[in-house]
Amino acid sequence: MLRNMTIRKRILTILTIVYLISMVLAVGGGYYVLRQDTIREAEEKTQLFSAAMSASQQYLASQIRPKVLEQLPEIYFPEATVGIVMLTEVSKMIQENYPEYIFRIASPNSLNPANNSDAFESKTIDAFDMGDSDQWRGFIERDGKNFYAIATPMIAAEGCIWCHDTPERAHPDMVARYGKSSGYGYVAGDVVGGRFIYVPVEVALQQARLKLAYFTGGFSVFFLLALVVVDRIIVRSVVKPIENIVSVADDISRGKMDREFEAQGNDEIKTLVDAFKRMKVSLAKAMDILSR
Ligand code: HEC
Repeated sequence: MLRNMTIRKRILTILTIVYLISMVLAVGGGYYVLRQDTIREAEEKTQLFSAAMSASQQYLASQIRPKVLEQLPEIYFPEATVGIVMLTEVSKMIQENYPEYIFRIASPNSLNPANNSDAFESKTIDAFDMGDSDQWRGFIERDGKNFYAIATPMIAAEGCIWCHDTPERAHPDMVARYGKSSGYGYVAGDVVGGRFIYVPVEVALQQARLKLAYFTGGFSVFFLLALVVVDRIIVRSVVKPIENIVSVADDISRGKMDREFEAQGNDEIKTLVDAFKRMKVSLAKAMDILSR
C-alpha cells in the first residue's frame, strides 16, 4: 500500500501510524501508572484508618475493660467493654468529618441489624470461613459509588463467648437491647464476621482520568504541529525541487535547451541536479555534432 503513495503521503502516513501506536502505549501505560498510584493512595488511607481502629480497640481491651469489669462486675456497660460498640461510635464521629469513609463490622449473624452483612460482605466472610484467605482488598461498588476496600476476618475467641453464646448466658440488659434471635451461637475459633473499611476512590480515579485527558490533548497538539512542520520540510526540500527537475527535463526533452536545472543547498537533490546539468551539456554536444 505504502509503495503506491507519493513520498509525502508515505512519510505522513508513517508518522500518523507512529502517533497512533505511541498514543495507545502512552495512554495505556499512563492509565496503568495513575491507577496504581490511586490504589496505593487508597491503600495507605485504609491502612491508616485500620491501624487507628485496631489501636483504639487494643487500648479499650488492655486499659479500660479490665478496670471497668473489676470495679463494676454486675453492670452492663458496653460502651466501655465492647470494642465493637466503641469502634462503631468512633467511626460515626469520624464520618461526621469524612462522610464518604465507611467502617463496618459486619456479620451474617448479627446482634445489631445495622451490622448485617450485605451480599458482598457475606461472600467475603464465607471465603474467610473456607480459609481461602485472611484478607480481601480491591475495588467494590457500593450504592453506585466506587470504593477501595480492605476486609479482614473477625474470629471468635474465648473472651467473646460470654456475650455471644446464648441469650441466657449474656447479660440481661444486652438481651433486652438486641433481642434473642440473632448474634449468638459463637464457637471459639470460628469466623464470625468481618471488618470492612471502604475508602472512596471515585474522586481520585476521576482526577487520574482528567490528568490523562490533558496529557492526551497536549501530546496530540504537539504531534499535529510536528506533522505540519515535517510536511512543510518535505514539500520544500523534496517535492518542489523534484517537480522543478521534472518540468525542466520535460522542456529540454522537447528541445527547449535554454532551460537550466537549478538547486539550492548541498544535498542529494543538488547531486542529482549536477548530474542532469552534465547530461544536458553532453546532450547539447551530441545534438551539435548531429546537426553539422
Ligand atoms: C460484653 C459483651 C461482648 C463481648 C465480650 C463481645 N461482643 Fe461482639 N458484640 C456485642 C454487642 C453488644 C454487639 C452489637 C454492637 C452494635 O450495636 O453495633 C456486638 C457486635 C459484634 C459483631 C457485629 C455483628 C453484630 O452482632 O452486630 C461482631 C462480628 C462481634 N460482635 C464479634 C465479637 C468478637 C469476635 C468478640 C471477641 C473478640 C466479641 N464480639 C466480644 C457484645 C460483645
